[in-house]
Amino acid sequence: MQGSNHAVGSQNNLEAYSLGLSQEELMLEHSQAVSSWIKVDVNCGDDSLVSRTLQAKGSKVNGFDLDPPKVLVVDDHAASRMTAVSLLGMEGYEVIEADSGSIVVELVTQKQPDLILLDVMMPGMDGFEVCQFLKQDEQTRLIPVIFITALNDRQSRIRGIEVGADDFLTKPFDRVELAARVKSLVRQKRLNEDLEHAEQVLFSIAMSIESRDPNTGNHCERLEKLGQAFGEYLNFSRYQIRDLMWGGYLHDIGKVGIPDAVLLKKGKLTPEDWQIMRQHVLIGEKICQRLRSMRGVIPIIRHHHERWDGSGYPDGLKEDDIPYLAQVFQLIDIYDALRSERPYKKALTSVEALSVMQEETDSGWRNPKLMQQFAEFILSCHEKE
Ligand SMILES: [Fe+2]
Repeated sequence: MQGSNHAVGSQNNLEAYSLGLSQEELMLEHSQAVSSWIKVDVNCGDDSLVSRTLQAKGSKVNGFDLDPPKVLVVDDHAASRMTAVSLLGMEGYEVIEADSGSIVVELVTQKQPDLILLDVMMPGMDGFEVCQFLKQDEQTRLIPVIFITALNDRQSRIRGIEVGADDFLTKPFDRVELAARVKSLVRQKRLNEDLEHAEQVLFSIAMSIESRDPNTGNHCERLEKLGQAFGEYLNFSRYQIRDLMWGGYLHDIGKVGIPDAVLLKKGKLTPEDWQIMRQHVLIGEKICQRLRSMRGVIPIIRHHHERWDGSGYPDGLKEDDIPYLAQVFQLIDIYDALRSERPYKKALTSVEALSVMQEETDSGWRNPKLMQQFAEFILSCHEKE
């Protein structure tokens, strides 16, 4: 690795070693850096914070040329921080530096990086604490975190996995490895963000439907909470609970395709109106089916109007052919509707609502065992209150 060219100073030799660069490569990159890099110092008014931006003039920026990704490098050792900074700068990233864990949280909110390169051992808040904090926060959990560990530091890696690290790199950095891992995680993060945006659009549509119908109040929000509580009561998995909660907002998203003349009609719906209204489950399924993250919610959207005896729609499914989450969701949906005041009816008490639901169950519309569990769940909630 070490060449015989003594024109490069000892500091650069040290950096070259940690970057995994040959003497020739170092000289070439040194001259390129001088000729084609701009450096902008950002004064954030905090002594403990070092922040700067490095950008390659006219570079392709690793395929992200229109919007260079931001990488936050957190390390209390200036030398190793600088190594990562110069390497990432060469790859076209905008690089932000921090020299302690305790300022990361503030800096992340301020700069919204696409990836964090995090040292493990730092005075004050260490890398594990920082990572755990970020991964528990809804706003920052999607930012990939790469831990910088010493070679063979198995303990740190295990602890890193526990706190949600996305990847690990060892010092001294291998230039190609660093570039490849950062690039791949940034891409993944951006894909996840796009997906989140698509989900947000769907939720916004669902909310706009609720606001079109002034009779329902905060029906969706109540369904979300009730779904979470009943899901936990039934010992559902985290994903099943999430699907139930999402179902609270999205189950009637297909009503976006139902004309106001039918959706908001005062008085009784005609058989033709009902035929149109029933389409909402199919329209809703179509809207959501292209998003993989919606897979678990689609059975709720399509089947929340099926009945245990097969007299429901759209498929007339019977008993356990009805997806279980749709059966569970249906009870929550009906209960909340009965408990809410509408222009044409008063709000029922929980005992009255359960009694109506039990009558419907006795006439064959609901799963009797599940109905019993739901009644027990509601009563247990009252006991807690
Ligand atoms: Fe519906």
